[in-house]
Amino acid sequence: MELVTEDNITELAARRWATARDPRTRELLTALVRHLHAFAREVRLTEDEWMAAIQWLTATGQISDEKREEFILTSDVLGLSMLVVQMNRRFDEAATPATVLGPFHIDGSPELAFGGDMSDGVPGIPLYLSGIVRSLDGTPVGGAVLDVWQADADGNYESQLEVDEARLRAKYTTRADGSYCLRTIAPKGYSIPMDGPVGDLIRQTEISHFRPAHVHFLLNVDGYQPLITHLFEQGAQYLDSDVVFGTKEELVVAFEPREPGPTPDGGVSDVPWVEARYDFVLQPA
Ligand SMILES: [Fe+2]
Repeated sequence: MELVTEDNITELAARRWATARDPRTRELLTALVRHLHAFAREVRLTEDEWMAAIQWLTATGQISDEKREEFILTSDVLGLSMLVVQMNRRFDEAATPATVLGPFHIDGSPELAFGGDMSDGVPGIPLYLSGIVRSLDGTPVGGAVLDVWQADADGNYESQLEVDEARLRAKYTTRADGSYCLRTIAPKGYSIPMDGPVGDLIRQTEISHFRPAHVHFLLNVDGYQPLITHLFEQGAQYLDSDVVFGTKEELVVAFEPREPGPTPDGGVSDVPWVEARYDFVLQPA
């Protein structure tokens, strides 16, 4: 039997986890052991710090549920989520780039028709967002579903509020010519939730805890790479300090103010509104 020492414990633990039957699981767990141990050695982790970390992780799990994802938020603010996206979603330069999913996506959003209003009574300035979904070679993609979600004018997502019905989220299907049109309200920049373990950490730093105004999109279309992305408002505050590192130049679009009159869905607005246009370009699978 080999005695455990401070010097050999990393090797012993890695060897033990190297018995994982699946090769990829073996690679992941042995690397995790080595990096965790290297981290503890580098910072000379104390027992109090170890316990504080355990309690922080416990609290992060306890505050999470099917609508709140504090671990995703943790990954987002550490830059890990965006790193994983960058490594795994290396699309053609001409394709719409991917960004983070974020902690607020909810499955099963209601389906709305072309121009349907996903804000449905939520106060704000009407925003019409329209364009084409197409392939890299220019072919329009009909029947593509855009799963859309955003925060309200106070920066709250549905999962942060006591509501029974879908709020500021919907699915739109492109027409045969690839066109889509959605109606919502102009989003505002917002703070990530600061009432949990992530907020406790951020408050100990000079980090700006805000995100620039944006709308989230998820397009999962047969024959194409899944696309998770955002559109950001040009000129919005926090574009250069996004707390989750999710902002990309190519995804910043003009939100143009419009007078009352005809709207892109073929209707007429009797109040001032805002127009944004964006063509999504999908990377073939
Ligand atoms: Fe968001």
